[in-house]
Amino acid sequence: MKTAKRLTRIPPYLFAGLEAKATELKTKGVDLIDLGIADPDLPPAPFLRDAVVKHLDDKDAHRYPTSAGDPKVREQIATWFKGRFGVDVNPAKEIAVIIGGKEGLANLSRAFVNPGDEVGAPDPGYPVYANGAAILNDGNPRHLPLIPENDFLPTLNTAIGVKLLYLNYPNNPTGAIAKEKFYREVARFADDHSETLVAWDAAYCELAFGDFKPPSILNFTRNAVEFHSLSKMMNVTGYRIGFAVGHEEVIKSLVKVKTQLDSGAPVFIQRAMGDALSRYEGATPPAEAKKSHDEYGRRKRLLEEGLAFVPGIERIYGSPATFFVWAKVEDDVRFVEKAMEAGVILTPGRGFGESGAGFVRAAVTAPSDRIEMALERLKKL
Ligand SMILES: Cc1ncc(COP(=O)(O)O)c(C=O)c1O
Repeated sequence: MKTAKRLTRIPPYLFAGLEAKATELKTKGVDLIDLGIADPDLPPAPFLRDAVVKHLDDKDAHRYPTSAGDPKVREQIATWFKGRFGVDVNPAKEIAVIIGGKEGLANLSRAFVNPGDEVGAPDPGYPVYANGAAILNDGNPRHLPLIPENDFLPTLNTAIGVKLLYLNYPNNPTGAIAKEKFYREVARFADDHSETLVAWDAAYCELAFGDFKPPSILNFTRNAVEFHSLSKMMNVTGYRIGFAVGHEEVIKSLVKVKTQLDSGAPVFIQRAMGDALSRYEGATPPAEAKKSHDEYGRRKRLLEEGLAFVPGIERIYGSPATFFVWAKVEDDVRFVEKAMEAGVILTPGRGFGESGAGFVRAAVTAPSDRIEMALERLKKL
């Protein structure tokens, strides 16, 4: 049996060896502190769980959802969008409910990428852009380097001609944020280049600390589509729920793909999301969500400050958003191997693309006392 060629074009998973090593150590009973994965360890607020349970009893909860999403939930999303960003969107035409950000980002590409087309993929970046969106549609990723000299922002001129351009701020894996100037540049690019669809991945939009509140790309242009997810916003990566907001034609095309590939997110999960978003007061999240965001913010500061004293770390790139601390080292794979020997799991930057080589990513998805313990271990490297 032979798989399709496109599957063989997906690059091999570089870190299978590292993962196998971690599993082996864990099986031996070694206490590894995992700062590798970006999966929230804090629980969702009780109101979210209660909303799922409540909506499980809805008369239609067991039936097929629609690919565009429950109409009332789309209205709740529109209200949230207005309160959070001050942007009016039409719930019937400019919003689609998605089964988590990953599904929406990937399915969008099926609607827009023809074989041979190029897809702009930040490097380092979330692998779905280069693999799921470009390669799995027989397209080609155009890697857009994110380097410290440019504050981990891509040079937009190098994206001219791509069919689809993914951008992601606050950013995974660098933790970088974009200032208003960059949003304006992106908006100009989207307005001037109708051959390119700009897909703004706002997965970490609500994971911003202190006074920093990332705007929406739709504050600057309507020629774009933006992806939101409840995963990191409310600690529910396992619920698989989010939404896309943008140009009517883009949403229509995304939904057309979805009708052929999935039947939408379960309605009780959609409605729990709608209820959770309705708890925002304008741009202010509900107290329980704010509490967990603040906790991640504290952990991030702890990690940023502590990593600066770890031998082999040349520089820390701090930021007021995301779960991630991005740090310069000489050889990322070697550094991660040594950290694992010391009992700490980190991610080597080159796993996110070539321009990630020489950096490591640490995620704040472990309690503060475990982060402190990890720092003690790393200081002895
Ligand atoms: C940059 C980025 N975008 C999108 C996602 C997708 O998240 P989900 O599918 O859980 O909404 C992730 C998850 O880690 C991510 O890091």
